[in-house]
Amino acid sequence: MSKKSVKFEGDNTLIHNDLSEESDLSNIPAVTKDSLYTNDILKLFQDSFNHILSSPSLEGFIQKVKSDLYNRDYISAFGQDDKRMAYSARWTPSRALCYSSLFSSLKEVKEVITDQNSKVLCVGGGAGGELIGLSSVFTQSRDFLNKDKYKSKLNIKLIDIADWTTIVTQLTSKVKKNWLYDEPDSLEVDFINDDVISVDPASLHLTDLNLITLLFTTNELFAEDKAKSIRFFQALNKLCQSGAYLLISESAGSYSHITVGSKKFPIQFLIDTILLGKKGEGEWELVNKSDSCWYRCEKDYQYPMKIENMRFFFRLYRKK
Ligand SMILES: C[S@@+](CC[C@H](N)C(=O)[O-])C[C@H]1O[C@@H](n2cnc3c(N)ncnc32)[C@H](O)[C@@H]1O
Repeated sequence: MSKKSVKFEGDNTLIHNDLSEESDLSNIPAVTKDSLYTNDILKLFQDSFNHILSSPSLEGFIQKVKSDLYNRDYISAFGQDDKRMAYSARWTPSRALCYSSLFSSLKEVKEVITDQNSKVLCVGGGAGGELIGLSSVFTQSRDFLNKDKYKSKLNIKLIDIADWTTIVTQLTSKVKKNWLYDEPDSLEVDFINDDVISVDPASLHLTDLNLITLLFTTNELFAEDKAKSIRFFQALNKLCQSGAYLLISESAGSYSHITVGSKKFPIQFLIDTILLGKKGEGEWELVNKSDSCWYRCEKDYQYPMKIENMRFFFRLYRKK
């Protein structure tokens, strides 16, 4: 089967090109020419979580997770297998669709995923949204009829303080079986169950990485421990190799404000200061950004739960 057969037959989505070509950072498309179709991605979740989606106790766990997230009690929200499964079935598909579009819309990120042997670290990526977003773009770039042409491999490391082993194992196995069936070894996925701001940064092999993602996780790190979080970013300054990319995203708006001393300000100001320096003398340069970017899913998607539209800010940095 060629990669075309992974496409969802009859999908009449309007497919867009790179953001860099369109220069519209306030919206990313429902699907791009460099990612899999919406319903192919959703089908992977449905196949992976069939037993969860049909469980009578699912709704109860979703409500518990919702309430924990509302109270910003992230440790409790992700502290139990049933809650993690409920989160993954309810919210990860929306995240995966958005990330699939975002990764393929950002030319530099797309190239890291598709054009070379790359190592990616997803901080706070245990729930699988980044894993499926990356895999969607990677799969779409493969030509199974012309394997010699596409020899690059993708290594994805996911580090998370909560133990998402079951979810990561399940999703990885479906990606290899359903999407990369002809070349499952082209994708390598490792899950590290640890606290990213407490581990020895050297253990993360930061010097080898081509891309680091911190998607909807930075706020949590700073809520846990500001000093340790700043030290983690300083380790990125010191250890990441020249040319590495760092993609950060959080909710747009006041939800992502941080209090330091008596002042409250958008978290991206603090991150920009640590990474770019006050006058651009920092270790990183800004490649792309949006303070308010919308992802809106197609209306005729096929999934038994609601798929959420997302509004977020993002920053893409490159190490000098
Ligand atoms: C709001 S969720 C976002 C999940 C995913 N990145 C996404 O966008 O769908 C935040 C994730 O960060 C993880 N996390 C929080 N603090 C962490 C830490 N200190 N080290 C590693 N992971 C952490 C949580 O367990 C959770 O999986």
